[in-house]
Amino acid sequence: MMHLAAFMNAGPQGTVGWRHPEAGDGFLTSAHYAHIARVLEAACFDLVFIPDALAVPRSLGDSFEPAVKWGSGTPRLDPMPVITTMAAVTEHLGVAATMSTGYQEPYNVARGLATLDHLTAGRAGWNVVTSFQDAEAQNYGQNKLPERAVRYRRAEEFLEVSTRLWDSWADDVLIRDKASGVFGRPEGVEAIDHQGEFFKVQGPLSVPRSPQGYPVIIQAGASPAGRDFASRWADVIFCSHESLASAIDFYADIKQRAAAFGRDPDQVKILPAATLVVGTDVRDAMAKHEAFAELVSVEAGLSRLAYHVNVDLTQYDLDGPLPSLEVVGVEGHYREVVEFAEREKLTVAEIGRWYGARTEGNMIGSAQDIADSMEHWMSSGAADGFMIQATHVPGAFEDVAREVVPELQRRGLFRTEYEGETLRDRLGLARPERGEWRNRAASVVKA
Ligand SMILES: Cc1cc2nc3c(=O)[nH]c(=O)nc-3n(C[C@H](O)[C@H](O)[C@H](O)COP(=O)(O)O)c2cc1C
Repeated sequence: MMHLAAFMNAGPQGTVGWRHPEAGDGFLTSAHYAHIARVLEAACFDLVFIPDALAVPRSLGDSFEPAVKWGSGTPRLDPMPVITTMAAVTEHLGVAATMSTGYQEPYNVARGLATLDHLTAGRAGWNVVTSFQDAEAQNYGQNKLPERAVRYRRAEEFLEVSTRLWDSWADDVLIRDKASGVFGRPEGVEAIDHQGEFFKVQGPLSVPRSPQGYPVIIQAGASPAGRDFASRWADVIFCSHESLASAIDFYADIKQRAAAFGRDPDQVKILPAATLVVGTDVRDAMAKHEAFAELVSVEAGLSRLAYHVNVDLTQYDLDGPLPSLEVVGVEGHYREVVEFAEREKLTVAEIGRWYGARTEGNMIGSAQDIADSMEHWMSSGAADGFMIQATHVPGAFEDVAREVVPELQRRGLFRTEYEGETLRDRLGLARPERGEWRNRAASVVKA
């Protein structure tokens, strides 16, 4: 069975999603998020997923002005209240927020997610990111983005502390015996006494162990360090690929890494990004895609790329090739750009226009064509499902729900109703026993 997650900004989508003729402008309203949550739940999606960044991106000219001018990467609402709003109007849809291990404290994150997991009866998820912009570091007392090795060391310790906090309560602490007056079993709760390189946390958490034990842990590491980290900790891994071949390689690599760490590879679900552009046929869908690409200006596209690679691109000649960049924010996006720009011999300006219109994992065609592609990716060993991205909202999700999901259901590839109680159940993931962190932490697990 295929799993479907919806990837949606708590703000405008992509580089120019807000300009799409059918884009709604309600992203500052709860009605907007409630509507999308209902659409996704009616289509039996596993979950909705909100990306995040902790700054207005500084891009061209090392300034935040292009992001504001072009509506690229800003505004971004705080994902936690947004997904709480989405959970409040649904019963089954999983809700996941992105939170950075770079700038938050594990106690806050563990507590917020455990709370949400209780309030949603086991539907909460966490996209663990290490962040990639200097602008984010500068909102949290630092001058520059810490180097990758430091980011992943901190992420590692962050996950160990968070999971230990979730485990600081046994599942059966609360007795609530009104006759005797005994509320809970103190012997079921223990401090964690953690002291490491980045955090000093006594514990226990102030929230009891939640329905899923651990909310679903999602990660998108691409570098070798990122892949190791994701293979040990993540329940769901998402990624973007320029080709089916690279998706197959990535899938095999992650499953193999997970097995080497002693995990059941089937307990790590891999969801490549897919942007579905649905038309009556390929020509109709291509026309939609091209009309969308026309909305992108060079500056808007370059400002998005500059933000993703964390490099001010105005220092380069717009009509020349992009020189090789030494240190970049998101390595995976940069590699895709280099590969494509070298192959097509693009100038910096042309890269900007292409990058702004680029949506991850394009599948363009009729509902049948798209279902064929999705089926092919699944049967080729490239995916356990997809992270569906939207060119614009709510329209692109409505198209998928109305056109593509019924086709997948007709083929028996996707559920027609929800089964199980929690997001973990729907994703086919076991509930972690107390102490599961020992099977995932680098301090314990060796490949
Ligand atoms: C589809 C996709 C969405 C991502 N969303 C976010 C995000 O919301 N916030 C963030 O800080 N990083 C995000 N990232 C970046 C990843 O978390 C990670 O930093 C990136 O894949 C680079 O991996 P690496 O650190 O191992 O090089 C995303 C990556 C991909 C592929």
